[in-house]
Amino acid sequence: SPQYGEDCRSKTYPPSGPTFRGHVPTYVINLDLPPSKRWDKLMHDKKTELKTVVENIKDIANTFFPSGKVVDIVDHKIAHLTSTLPYPFSEELQGIANKLQMGGSFKCCAVFCRWDVKNNSWIITRELKPIVVNLDFQRNNKTVFKSTNFAGYIGMVSGVKPDKFTLTMNERFSLDGGYIGMFEWFLGRRDGMWMGFLTRTVLENATSYQDAKDKLSKTRLLAPAYFILGGKNSGEGCVITRSRTATLDIWDLDIKKGTWYVVETNYDRWKPPLVLDNRRTPAMKCLNQTQQENISLPTIYDVLSTKPVLNKLTVCTTLMEVYNGHTETYLRECPDPCSPW
Ligand SMILES: *[C@@H]1O[C@H](CO)[C@@H](O)[C@H](O)[C@H]1NC(C)=O
Ligand SMILES: *[C@@H]1O[C@H](CO)[C@@H](O)[C@H](O)[C@H]1NC(C)=O
Ligand SMILES: *[C@@H]1O[C@H](CO)[C@@H](O)[C@H](O)[C@H]1NC(C)=O
Ligand SMILES: *[C@@H]1O[C@H](CO)[C@@H](O)[C@H](O)[C@H]1NC(C)=O
Ligand SMILES: *[C@@H]1O[C@H](CO)[C@@H](O)[C@H](O)[C@H]1NC(C)=O
Repeated sequence: SPQYGEDCRSKTYPPSGPTFRGHVPTYVINLDLPPSKRWDKLMHDKKTELKTVVENIKDIANTFFPSGKVVDIVDHKIAHLTSTLPYPFSEELQGIANKLQMGGSFKCCAVFCRWDVKNNSWIITRELKPIVVNLDFQRNNKTVFKSTNFAGYIGMVSGVKPDKFTLTMNERFSLDGGYIGMFEWFLGRRDGMWMGFLTRTVLENATSYQDAKDKLSKTRLLAPAYFILGGKNSGEGCVITRSRTATLDIWDLDIKKGTWYVVETNYDRWKPPLVLDNRRTPAMKCLNQTQQENISLPTIYDVLSTKPVLNKLTVCTTLMEVYNGHTETYLRECPDPCSPW
């Protein structure tokens, strides 16, 4: 097996040792500021690291399309399409691009970095670590939601709305994949939503677990996705499997039936995971061993520290608790032997 599995880890928390690489800084994003100003402080601090990432993505594009045409198109033609994004995303991207003085290519990369190619992800993984940040989005000096994110990415991958819900988005690969949705978007059909923008909108403006669940189930998307949602009442926890236009499945917690956890590792739950990328079985095995009564942030960290759940693509581990919106983020390493994904 290329996956270098191991026995379920225990007592890995508090994080230390070779799989722990460091902590992550926190920035306040003030939603009372105009969108173009919100990211100034963060961009000022992370400018150099972010430019490295953008240059690298350009290099990757040039490796695959050596004429340089793709990067040119991105720089000059496609980037202006970001101005068609809805408020506040277009304004926020404009503000960031101005701050970085990078113009089009930044805006385009910011939208596309979620679709990076796996081979090169190793470089990307290394370079992404310095731009991982915790964000505390505030209105009236009060936390609206918190998120762990890459500096420069204005969509959200995961976050918590205190005492309401936690939310994570995972990529979902399928034949009717993101490409069709993205082509449609380029060709002018703009009613599908970039997934990270939906996550951000839900974290910012959904008022309850149920409201979040409805919005995540019903909004038309540009690409398929999984949304992993947790609430604070018994039974509030689910994985929503989405195609671009429909909800294919909602997997709810159901204590009576023994479903005390749900696990998502980028595969549909009704299908076996790819043989070469089976992180689901190890994760479930370790959760089964832990048992419901022992679940805590430290034991969840144990599960997420067990190879190949932890692998060379792992940038960071985020623990989120809906009560008080408590979050912890740790940068990770996966020393050899370790699965490449
Ligand atoms: C990844 O790409 C680089 C060149 O960009 C190549 O040297 C390397 O062999 C590739 N690795 C795999 C596993 O395909
Ligand atoms: C937020 O706090 C700062 C400093 O404590 C204060 O100057 C500012 O007026 C406050 N803003 C709001 C909207 O309450
Ligand atoms: C959330 O709602 C407010 C008020 O309607 C709006 O100004 C803001 O742009 C919305 N946020 C997002 C991310 O859509
Ligand atoms: C974990 O436990 C569930 C429920 O008992 C069972 O269906 C599943 O097969 C177990 N998975 C593993 C990998 O042990
Ligand atoms: C889990 O909880 C059970 C019952 O409370 C206890 O006997 C067991 O030792 C715990 N296991 C671990 C790994 O902490």
